Amino acid sequence: MTEVVIRHLEPDDYHSIISVVDEWWGGRPMAAMLPKLFFVHFRSTSFTAVDDGQIVGFLIGFVSQTFPDQAYIHFLGVHPARRGEGLGRHLYEHFFTTAASHGCRTAQCVTAPVNRDSIAFHRRLGFSLLDSDDKVDGVPIAVGYDGESQDRVIFTKHLDTLDTVR
Ligand SMILES: CC(C)(COP(=O)(O)OP(=O)(O)OC[C@H]1O[C@@H](n2cnc3c(N)ncnc32)[C@H](O)[C@@H]1OP(=O)(O)O)[C@@H](O)C(=O)NCCC(=O)NCCS
Repeated sequence: MTEVVIRHLEPDDYHSIISVVDEWWGGRPMAAMLPKLFFVHFRSTSFTAVDDGQIVGFLIGFVSQTFPDQAYIHFLGVHPARRGEGLGRHLYEHFFTTAASHGCRTAQCVTAPVNRDSIAFHRRLGFSLLDSDDKVDGVPIAVGYDGESQDRVIFTKHLDTLDTVR
């Protein structure tokens, strides 16, 4: 097996990723949430995992313009056949290190309550869930966070505890 290389996202990656993103998210329509602008304007904090020329994972993140000590992860995806190998963790750790070097002290992201894999993954990576009186199967949710019927689970991780991730 070849070595997986983590490199910055490039505009040319757009078509490769956009063509698989709905499939990687189990058929959920995600592509509209990933316009080309992320592949152009957020490259210094966004990464792809490449194995033998094939993209097997990607992370799109950025430093908040409003809160410069906060980093935000918009998308993280790993090829369905390559899950459980540590690629998601590897991409996140790369991002955490980059974000910390930019002065970020926390990382945040959101996911849909239906995405149980994402919730389990983020918990395992040391993210905490923003508490709420509204819960689905015990998971606190922000009702209508991204619009009507678009509830979200909100995650935060402190980057000054990076060495205690595992
Ligand atoms: C969520 C996702 C990125 C995880 O990627 P991955 O490469 O399989 O994750 P890793 O192998 O790096 O796992 C990291 C840790 O999380 C745990 N984990 C990952 N998926 C898990 C799951 N579904 N249930 C429980 N634990 C899980 C692993 O056991 C591992 O723990 P360890 O490092 O302590 O042994 C991947 O499942 C995916 O792409 N899902 C579809 C897209 C998505 O939902 N993205 C997140 C929202 S933007």
